Amino acid sequence: MKKIVLFASGNGSNAENIMAHFEKSGQGTVVGVFTNNSHAKVIERAKKFQVPTYVFNKTELSDDTVLNNLQELQPDLIVLAGFLLKFPVHIINAFPNKVINIHPALLPNYGGKGMYGMNVHNAVLEKKEKETGITVHYVNEHFDEGEFIFQANVAIENCTTAEEIAQKIHELEMEHFPKVIVRLLEG
Ligand code: GAR
Repeated sequence: MKKIVLFASGNGSNAENIMAHFEKSGQGTVVGVFTNNSHAKVIERAKKFQVPTYVFNKTELSDDTVLNNLQELQPDLIVLAGFLLKFPVHIINAFPNKVINIHPALLPNYGGKGMYGMNVHNAVLEKKEKETGITVHYVNEHFDEGEFIFQANVAIENCTTAEEIAQKIHELEMEHFPKVIVRLLEG
């Protein structure tokens, strides 16, 4: 059985959707949820699926603590699903081509430092974009710059608030992210 590890910093609706997908389909198994936030809602969500949680601080991310945890778990894929810290290079190098991220915009636009969650949707609204979307990409040492794996678009001409855009993005993420993960696991 292929093993997936999730990293999330807050709400965790993507993490929950992925756990639900794999619990039901048996196409893989989520073996751990890692978070840098001990109050993150993703922790409750993981408990619902009996997935072990690992809470760590910035020091443990940059020393070998998180790396050692991951090496014990031996994941086939490490999925950043709403993870807001920079992912460390020593972990990327230990798991080549196995770390992916979802970004709530059509990269290379609206990416980079500070571009996460509602900040992205506010920026998209301000620019009066006609469409936005999601990007799943490999993680490298720069924020939001690794090779693209998947993009999907959505029209937002009728959206007048950033919340409406966020809802459209949420729907795209729910529909596509688990399928992209399945495809990668199947190689
Ligand atoms: C998602 O929209 C994800 O694409 C985004 O944060 C949200 C997390 O929601 N990620 C980024 O902005 C990364 N730069 P969730 O915690 O409910 O899954």
